Amino acid sequence: MNVLLTGGAGFIGSHTAVALLEAGHQLTILDNFSNSSFAVLTRLRELTGKSLKGVEGDIRNLSLVEDLLRSQKIDAVIHLAGLKAVGESVSDPLRYYDNNVSGTTTLLLGMQRAGVKKIVFSSSATVYRGSQEGLFNEDSPLEPVNPYGRSKLMIELILRDYVATNSFEALVLRYFNPVGAHSSGRIGESPLGVPNNLMPFVAQVAVGRRKELAVFGQDWPTPDGTGIRDYIHVMDLARGHVAALERLEQGGRFDVFNLGTGQGHSVLEVIQAFEKASGKPLPYHFAARRPGDQAVCCARVEKARQVLGFETQAGLEEMAADAWRFQMLNPQGIV
Ligand code: NAD
Ligand code: UFG
Repeated sequence: MNVLLTGGAGFIGSHTAVALLEAGHQLTILDNFSNSSFAVLTRLRELTGKSLKGVEGDIRNLSLVEDLLRSQKIDAVIHLAGLKAVGESVSDPLRYYDNNVSGTTTLLLGMQRAGVKKIVFSSSATVYRGSQEGLFNEDSPLEPVNPYGRSKLMIELILRDYVATNSFEALVLRYFNPVGAHSSGRIGESPLGVPNNLMPFVAQVAVGRRKELAVFGQDWPTPDGTGIRDYIHVMDLARGHVAALERLEQGGRFDVFNLGTGQGHSVLEVIQAFEKASGKPLPYHFAARRPGDQAVCCARVEKARQVLGFETQAGLEEMAADAWRFQMLNPQGIV
């Protein structure tokens, strides 16, 4: 298929680009590089030996989107462009609703005008209402607790409404915790500023860019007292998008899938895996719980397995080893 990948220079987008090119799809990337580097596009071409079209631009630019969809004869859009920092979404909610929600409605308008009728959308486990068990299937109650999460839920609802009355197909993928990097070490997670998430923070401590990790809480109701998450290797996640695209090719209407491994790991287990990968101890201390956190957040993955035929391959050790390789080879990120 001719695919438009929005946000394709970002962490998940760049890995998804590799998986799509390897599966034989033709690719156009649209990114405004607000949280990524232009250099990623060159690396993608080198890594895959394939050509791809890269366009610098914003999904909120309707005429650009419409022209691109038409000129590249796009069959389907994989929509990853978005802002994702939870804290920033609390302090600047309008920026999040404008970029994520208005950005998506503009993209959909462009698709409508250009007659493009298929989309895969990057949602998040953050849309679920936290529960004691912390194990979520696609029908679990939804109640995001911050503007970032609400922007994702709003987009899901917009897509559902649009599909209901139009010949349009949308698959929503709710990612759990994507980590790791391509095994080449050429692309990976390269956040600007202080990382918000555990794995990139750990990687920067291991490489000496930061002094020590703060472990948020040691009194959670979990076996070792630290938070448990469902970490998924970003290359597995990338292949999930290829599976979703194949499902859309057969005609999918509207559907939602969790993408995770179904297996949870605690913060201390992540630290241990990283110590093993890097061969050195990782300095950390315990700190207070982070507001808004929950004890456990893991996916039920039966639906993705049954309907998409999606199975993950990598375990935590491989995720840590690949994240470490990327960090070592790119200590300042992709510049
Ligand atoms: P990222 O920031 O690395 O990638 C997002 C990309 O979108 C960046 O390259 C950025 O420059 C681009 N972008 C942002 N706004 C844009 C706009 N208006 N127009 C064009 N390009 C724009 O983030 P990521 O981790 O790769 O996440 C990709 C998507 O997956 C996001 O929508 C995010 O909300 C979602 N998601 C991420 C996670 C995670 O933990 N990483 C979890 C669940 C969902
Ligand atoms: N943690 C620490 N120290 C840190 C960072 C995180 O102890 O410096 C802990 C957290 O408390 C949590 C675990 O590590 O127990 C994972 O935290 P992350 O920030 O890596 O991931 P979250 O599950 O909190 O959230 C992330 C994204 C959300 C997204 C969610 C599910 O930030 O936007 O994954 O995809 F919705």
